[in-house]
Amino acid sequence: MMKSFFQRYTPLQIAIHIYGWSALVLLIVDLLTDNLTANPIQALEQRTGRHAITLLVLALACSPLNNLLGWRELLKRRRALGLYAFLYATIHVLIFVDLDYGLAWSLIVQTIVEKPYIIVGVMAFLMLIPLAFTSFDIWKKRLGKNWKRLHQLVYWIAPLAALHYAWGKKGDFFALRGEIIRPLIYASIIVILLIMRIPQVRKALASVRDRIVVLFRKRAPQAKVNLP
Ligand code: HEM
Repeated sequence: MMKSFFQRYTPLQIAIHIYGWSALVLLIVDLLTDNLTANPIQALEQRTGRHAITLLVLALACSPLNNLLGWRELLKRRRALGLYAFLYATIHVLIFVDLDYGLAWSLIVQTIVEKPYIIVGVMAFLMLIPLAFTSFDIWKKRLGKNWKRLHQLVYWIAPLAALHYAWGKKGDFFALRGEIIRPLIYASIIVILLIMRIPQVRKALASVRDRIVVLFRKRAPQAKVNLP
């Protein structure tokens, strides 16, 4: 029974699902045990937002890391990571419109219009919706070439989410002080991941990988000889 479970799922797959669900379970446990700071709604909003952007960045990292490490399984895990990102983004938005604003739509619209960082968040969320719904194989087949083009929206969504994060924080952006550090780390990772997709950079990284592989292959027989 155990063997068949580990034969069916890879360690990476298991790790992704453990992260995806345990973060939600922890959130619910903290909510039920009153363990969510003096401002529980804000804490919920912040935690779901951070999980959403983390999962989004992980999804964005799969392709460049496959290129660098030759770990092809990463490509198969993009969908799960993206869907979990969408799950947390949806909960994040529901907390905002329901718990935070009590479904007072005119007030919600007013806040969206008044606060630029919310507009940016809304844009990121609206773009995530079609990606989540078309992430399944049937849509991949139906949309053909357009599927890839549609899913390239993630190159916009991730920077928008990072901007939403950084802009919503109080801090001195130019002095790199206060609460700006964490969003800046996310933004830097996103920039690096996007740079790694530029065709010339991609080729260079792939050739570095090939050279490392050749180096290891050359050393492998020697290592065997030296074994006791
Ligand atoms: C309709 C769309 C959205 C709305 C209305 C919204 C609203 C908010 C609000 C009100 C906050 C501030 C919470 C606080 O500190 O008081 C926030 C923070 C945040 N949101 Fe969103 N958001 C939206 C979409 C998104 C999306 C799509 C993502 C990521 C994929 C995201 C990620 C974050 C992050 C990372 C934070 C900061 C968390 C922290 O302070 O540690 N949001 N959002």
